[in-house]
Amino acid sequence: MSPRLATTVLLAIAGCSDPKPPPPPAPPPTPPVAPAKVAADASVVAEHMTEHFTVIVELQHAIATGKLDEAQRQARWLIEHELPAREGWPMFVDDMKAAAQQVVEARDLPAASVLAARLGRTCSQCHERQAAVVTFPWEPAPEQSSVLAVQMRRHQWAAVRLWEGLVGPSDEMWKQGAEVLSTTQLDTVAAAGGVARGDVPALAAKVRELAVRATSTSDHNQRATLYGELLSTCSGCHQLVRPVPVPGP
Ligand code: HEC
Ligand code: HEC
Repeated sequence: MSPRLATTVLLAIAGCSDPKPPPPPAPPPTPPVAPAKVAADASVVAEHMTEHFTVIVELQHAIATGKLDEAQRQARWLIEHELPAREGWPMFVDDMKAAAQQVVEARDLPAASVLAARLGRTCSQCHERQAAVVTFPWEPAPEQSSVLAVQMRRHQWAAVRLWEGLVGPSDEMWKQGAEVLSTTQLDTVAAAGGVARGDVPALAAKVRELAVRATSTSDHNQRATLYGELLSTCSGCHQLVRPVPVPGP
């Protein structure tokens, strides 16, 4: 029984013998709310989160373009960076860091792609649990184009929207990304450097197929799985046709 209820019951009993019970005691004053403090705390968290987002977008870009070392450097930052301690957070922070650790240990790009997508999902699991409202600035998609470099910018634009859709989670961003990616051209002849080969068009077709599937995938975990496959397909083609120079020691 709560103390307040106990007081009420006692007063009711006392009321039986006393026709005019004294008015119930005034409730204890609620501790003063400090809106400024709450706002300051929220902005501290938002600042950390903005940094996390920058890091995770760089990690996505590094994997998509075939730079495993760079992706792992970003994942290590997530492990080393301390988030402020808040009630109910440790479990989610641990999950996120464990997922980042797996990216650090990934042996190749296909593995890193799958693990990075799972890492993205650990961000949204905390957001869902904390009922955090995560919004992203709107940015127009590059126009359709017959030029491969522009087509690739559109691919990257869509991949970042899908990524936001995953870490938000944000249905709106996911849908925008899926919509744009599923309608973006990919000049496979140019991508293959004018050489007739089957593997490059196959990877382009795989991107298209995953993008179409993304338009009708609404479960967040399934989205994460799909995103892992997508990243792996992007990096797979970049490894085939545009070997990224390995940076020196
Ligand atoms: C332990 C819980 C937790 C984890 C893990 C977490 N976040 Fe957050 N995040 C929050 C909370 C709480 C907010 C809402 C903050 C606020 O009130 O603005 C938030 C907000 C955000 C925002 C919106 C910031 C703004 O300007 O309002 C972004 C972007 C974000 N998180 C990205 C990430 C990314 C990327 C990851 C994973 C690498 C991540 N978060 C992991 C708790 C978490
Ligand atoms: C079929 C092969 C192929 C696929 C699939 C592919 N790309 Fe590309 N991508 C290329 C080629 C070739 C270039 C180089 C184009 C140029 O420099 O003109 C490139 C360049 C890029 C670049 C610019 C290079 C850089 O280092 O910034 C980005 C970003 C990019 N791709 C993102 C993506 C993303 C994201 C996906 C998956 C959603 C993807 N690509 C799928 C072939 C592919």
